[in-house]
Amino acid sequence: MRSDAWYSDAGGNVRDAYIHRAWMRRGTPEDSFDGRPHIAIANTASDLTPCNAHLDEVAASVKAGVWAAGGVPHNLPVMSLGETLVRPTAMLWRNLAAMAIEEMLRANPVDGVVLLGGCDKTIPALLMAAASVDLPAVVVPGGPMLTGTFRGQPLGCGTDVWRLSEEVRAGTLAAREFTASESSMIRSKGHCNTMGTASTMACLAEALGMTLPGFAGTPAADARLLTLAHATGRLAVDLVHRDHRPSAVLSAAAFHNAIVTLAAVGGSTNAVVHLLALAGRLGVPLELDDFDRIGHAVPLLVDLQPSGRHLMDDFHRAGGLRAALAEVADLLAPEAVTVTGERFVDTLADQPVWDADVITPRHAPLIEAAGIAVLHGNLAPDGAIIKPAAASPALLVHRGPAVVFDSIEDAHARLEDPDLDVTADSVLVLRGCGPRGYPGMPEVGNLPIPRRLVQQGVRDMVRISDARMSGTAYGTVVLHVAPEAAAGGPLGRLRTGDVVVLDVPARTLDAEVDPDVWAARLPSEASTAAYAQPLRGWERLYVDHVLQADRGADLDFLVGRSGSEVSRESH
Ligand code: FES
Ligand code: MG
Repeated sequence: MRSDAWYSDAGGNVRDAYIHRAWMRRGTPEDSFDGRPHIAIANTASDLTPCNAHLDEVAASVKAGVWAAGGVPHNLPVMSLGETLVRPTAMLWRNLAAMAIEEMLRANPVDGVVLLGGCDKTIPALLMAAASVDLPAVVVPGGPMLTGTFRGQPLGCGTDVWRLSEEVRAGTLAAREFTASESSMIRSKGHCNTMGTASTMACLAEALGMTLPGFAGTPAADARLLTLAHATGRLAVDLVHRDHRPSAVLSAAAFHNAIVTLAAVGGSTNAVVHLLALAGRLGVPLELDDFDRIGHAVPLLVDLQPSGRHLMDDFHRAGGLRAALAEVADLLAPEAVTVTGERFVDTLADQPVWDADVITPRHAPLIEAAGIAVLHGNLAPDGAIIKPAAASPALLVHRGPAVVFDSIEDAHARLEDPDLDVTADSVLVLRGCGPRGYPGMPEVGNLPIPRRLVQQGVRDMVRISDARMSGTAYGTVVLHVAPEAAAGGPLGRLRTGDVVVLDVPARTLDAEVDPDVWAARLPSEASTAAYAQPLRGWERLYVDHVLQADRGADLDFLVGRSGSEVSRESH
């Protein structure tokens, strides 16, 4: 065991082994240091990450499972990130959380780790950490909330906030009605119950092979979640005995399966940056264009908000991820294995669909080709993405004059202006909101429709930005433009009135500007003035080292892995 290097006298340093054991004797059984696996429970529970606030209870079940299998569990509270509260965006700290978790796993006498996540950034950060330290690891997804209802209608977390707030702006819903729905939105513990980023990353963790089969999508309040958590604790001990590491699970084949899954479930665009960053940690050669190449022809089978109607509770009741993926098993890479050691495709056998309204059959998909489309052109030399499943089909080929915003504050102010020169054919462009420019690449890409137009009944327009959008959001929104304006990307050179041409079937995104004029054009001063220029601290480190969206927005010095070796003593 790796932990023997701390606890065993056989290592030669009797004094230090004494120190390591003695301080850990707080009721620990006598045989705890006899060479059995020590398992960390990387726990993102936090009262300020409400979606993960229940994970201490889950950790208790994991602990019991570790003990039952002959291991020694250790609760390891790690940096947590909640989407709803932290400013300017939780994404600014995904890499910091991943780095801190990686370092604490390496620094401590642990042989394996159970990763407890939930809210959007937590599972990505945990997986990135586990990949870079490469100790045996398994994910426990904290699970979605139960469905809340308001006046008889189900409420989708996030999605219905966007939808209802637009109705208020349109004047079709009273502000007090909107506020009254607030106390019905969050019915139980757990993360957002739409197919937002948290649900998506739980599904992808399973598709990558990093959970017990059938775990993803189990509601947080469901008793079976604790049963699965207990079983995962047992599995963690077994993983250590088998020396089954993330590097053996997170293969190119596993990423292939994750991309197929992302399309089939209509998952969040945020998964693109998370999977790219994770692949970078492992040295798996994954590129932005692979999302289109692998995912493009995959049908959408899961009718969940934000692209569809239902919620995670319905998905679980209908058979869940395994039932959905069983429909497209032939599109999955058969060689990928899971933490259990079995082939991922074998976990999909005999998984019936119980409600074809929620999980549609392969021969009658919601959308034939639902994968994320990757666009290139003179506005996005290194690529941009759009989720066709969440877009208006009529806008997927569109030509219109740009209305350019230099910051989100600029956008919010002018979009409310009744005199803003804009029509439903205009293309709303937001820049300065990429990883470096904001900083942190916030979820602001789904700009509100200009107030004047929303009151005329317009509900969707083409929007383009170097930002992300919430996984619970929808619309014809081109995101993750790379390079971003603040990194010298051509978005910075666009001017209001320039004609922009979006052609999703052709996979292009271009400004229709004379090439000589375009080449000679400099970024506008107003745009460069809006880019973040932090002087110190994490933000400074971040803007100096963050990679662009097409590389997963990881930090350049965090790409790759260092393993779990620490050769020097502390005393
Ligand atoms: Fe935490 Fe949506 S806010 S998952
Ligand atoms: Mg989010």
